[in-house]
Amino acid sequence: MTKVLVATDKPFAAIAVKGIREVVEAAGMELALLEKYTGKSQLLEAVKDVDALIVRSDVIDAEVLGAARKLKIVVRAGAGYDNVDLAAATARGICIMNTPGQNSNAVAELVFGLLVYGARGFYSATSGTELKGRKLGILAFGNVGRNVARIAKGFDMEVYAFDPYMPAKVIENDGVKALGSMAELFGACQVVSLHIPATAETKKSISYELLKSMPQGAILVNTARREVVDEDALKRIFEERPDFKYLSDIQPTINAELAAGYPGRYFATPVKLGAQTAEANINAGIASARQIVDFIRNGNIQFKVN
Ligand code: 3PG
Repeated sequence: MTKVLVATDKPFAAIAVKGIREVVEAAGMELALLEKYTGKSQLLEAVKDVDALIVRSDVIDAEVLGAARKLKIVVRAGAGYDNVDLAAATARGICIMNTPGQNSNAVAELVFGLLVYGARGFYSATSGTELKGRKLGILAFGNVGRNVARIAKGFDMEVYAFDPYMPAKVIENDGVKALGSMAELFGACQVVSLHIPATAETKKSISYELLKSMPQGAILVNTARREVVDEDALKRIFEERPDFKYLSDIQPTINAELAAGYPGRYFATPVKLGAQTAEANINAGIASARQIVDFIRNGNIQFKVN
């Protein structure tokens, strides 16, 4: 019998697991569950006899793939797949997929949770600022970026975006002003929200020069990936610009230093929770299960990324 393992260090909501189980069992397959595992050894043991794997940000490296002798497919229930060793998977003939768009509204809503919190002085008694009328720059206009733009319009923000892989026309069709470069976006927008994946090209791409160019009262929001921000640049900007705030859903490696040094200007969630809603879990989890069934039964590789 085909065995599907859900291996999630950060578990899905129970209702999403129930939905995944229904899809898998209705297809005559078996579902196994490994949640909140405490070490890699548990993951290595659990993958031994499985045909398919559903994960979130769990690290699926060459060792895990090597331990999974029967593995044919891994679906990353979410957008970014930088946690999976694609080259090692390809070398072993294992198909890797993601579930684009399924958790993007949840992440976009958290952007505004962070923004209101930051603009209101972290809910202290001090007088804060409003988002209305502020220029918001969205870096990368994918599924999350588009949702951020939609919500920003409700706040009456002026919305700008830059995406090197998206024609300006597509951005403008969403009623958003398309800018020509990252430099233009950071130079024009007081609030910038990051929605780029972590790739060789984007790592440390949020540089000192970009941060320095932001208008007075700058707020950088990161619900994307830790690696895209140059942490040395971040430290320097915090020292040089008392007006600068950084709000993040991913703790930088210098989290303790920033938290201690810049209270009221720096905030990061304790764990990455942008996609941690029942709705996003259901959407991404069930899409993963369906993609696995369709791949095993029909060879459908629509969401293959390797
Ligand atoms: C994603 O890439 O989909 C998001 O970063 C969510 O990651 P998570 O599933 O670990 O919450």
